[in-house]
Amino acid sequence: MRRDILHPGAGKLKYEIREIVAFARSLEKWDIPIQWENIGDPVKKGESVAPWIKDIVREKAGEDLSYAYSETEGARSARDFLAGLVNRRNTVIEGAAPVHIGADDILFFNGLGDAVAKVFGFLRREARVLGPSPAYSTLSSAEAAHSGYEHLTYRLDPNRDWMPDMADVELKVKYNDSVAGILLINPDNPTGAVYPVEVLKEFVRIAKSYDLFIVCDETYANIVYGGAKTAALSQVIGDVPGLALRSLSKEVPWPGARCGWAEVYNRRADERFDAYIRSLLDAKRLEVCSTSLPQLCIPAIMGDPRYPEHLRRRAAMFEKRAEEAAAAFGGIPGITLVKPRGALYASAVFDDVLEDGSNTARTLPVKDPALAEYIREKTKDVAPDKRFVYWLLASTGICVVPLSGFASELPGFRFTLLEHDDENRRRIYKTLGEAVKMYLATN
Ligand SMILES: Cc1ncc(COP(=O)(O)O)c(C=O)c1O
Repeated sequence: MRRDILHPGAGKLKYEIREIVAFARSLEKWDIPIQWENIGDPVKKGESVAPWIKDIVREKAGEDLSYAYSETEGARSARDFLAGLVNRRNTVIEGAAPVHIGADDILFFNGLGDAVAKVFGFLRREARVLGPSPAYSTLSSAEAAHSGYEHLTYRLDPNRDWMPDMADVELKVKYNDSVAGILLINPDNPTGAVYPVEVLKEFVRIAKSYDLFIVCDETYANIVYGGAKTAALSQVIGDVPGLALRSLSKEVPWPGARCGWAEVYNRRADERFDAYIRSLLDAKRLEVCSTSLPQLCIPAIMGDPRYPEHLRRRAAMFEKRAEEAAAAFGGIPGITLVKPRGALYASAVFDDVLEDGSNTARTLPVKDPALAEYIREKTKDVAPDKRFVYWLLASTGICVVPLSGFASELPGFRFTLLEHDDENRRRIYKTLGEAVKMYLATN
C-alpha cells in the first residue's frame, strides 16, 4: 500500500466483553459447556419481555409508518415525549439547578454504541475527555481511538464503594489543558456504583470552573436499588454544557432494538459546544436516521401507567441478586466485592495478591491434561486477572471479563446479575467464590 491506511487509533479498539468469547469458543473441542457471564443482555440470560410491552411493539409493527425513515434527529413524537420527561423530573435539589429542554435537544442513535462512536469520533483529536477507571470499554476505547493515545482516566476506589476520587479528577483537569470534557457513568458499569447527588454536583462544579462539558452515560438510570439515592445529570447541571446518554437496551429490556438517545443540555451556552452538537446531527444525517420502530414505541411503553411498577419490580429483582453475589464473596480473604447498588454487574477485585510475581504458579483444577497444557500456554503472557479468567473458564466453564479489559489497573473480574434461573445463578456465584478461594490457595 503506498500510503499507510491505518487510523492512528485503530489499535485502541478493544472490547474484552466480546473478545473473551473467542477464547471461550476455542475450548469447545473439550466439550466445556460455557456459562456466559460476560455479556449484559438480560434477554439472552432468560428474562422474558413483559407481555404488555410486546403488545405495544406488535401494534406499532402493524402501522406502515414504522417501516418508514424517521427524521434524522428521531421521531418527533418520541423526542417530544422524552423532552417532557426530562422537564418533569427536574424537581428542585438544594444547591443545584436543573435544565429545561425541547424536542430539538434530543438526538436518536442506533443504540448508545452508535452514539458513543459519534460523540468521540467527531471530537477534535486534541480535545480529550477524562473518564473513569474502570470504565465500560466502548467508552474508554472510543475516547482512546479518537485521540490515538491511551484513555485519560480518574480513579474509582473499591475501598470507598467505588466512588470517584474527586481530587484526582480536579488535578487531572487542572494540569492537562487538553481535557475538554469529563465522562461519568451513573449507575456505573462495571462497578455497580451509584453516585450521590453531592458527587454529581462536584463534577458539575469542576466542569464549570474549568470550562468543560460533561458526558453522563445514564444507560442504567432506572436500575437503582439498595437504598441508593442519585439524580439525573439534568437535575444538577445548571448552565454547564452537557450530554446525557440513555437507551432502551437494559430497562425495557430491548438491546436488539439498537435504540438510544442523547439529551443535550445548554447547547447554546457555548458556541463551540453548539457547533460540535450540530456536527453530531450532520454525521447522523449522512446515515439518514436511526431505526424507527423502537422510537415510535417509546411514548406508549415509557408513558404506560404500568412502566413505573415494571422498573420497580426489576430494580428489586437486581437488588436481591446483588445481595446473593455479595454473600457468595463475603469473608473470602484476598478479594473485595462491593455490593452493587445499580446497573446489572458486580466487580470483584483481588487485593494485590495477584501482583507478587508468583502468580504464574496459580491454577485451577482442570480434568484433561491437554486442556491444562493449552491454558498454561495461553496464560504465559497475559495480565494476572486474565490468567485467572482463563483458568476459571477451563475449570468451571464460567466466562467472566477481566477488569484489565475495562481500562483498569486493578486486577479483578466482572460478572453479571442477569442469570434468570435462580438455581443456576446461585450455583454460578458459589462456584465463582470457591474458584477464587482455590486459585489464591495455589502458589
Ligand atoms: C454504560 C453503557 N453504556 C452504553 C452501552 C451500550 O448500550 P446500547 O448500545 O445497547 O444502547 C452499554 C451496554 O452495555 C453500557 O453498559
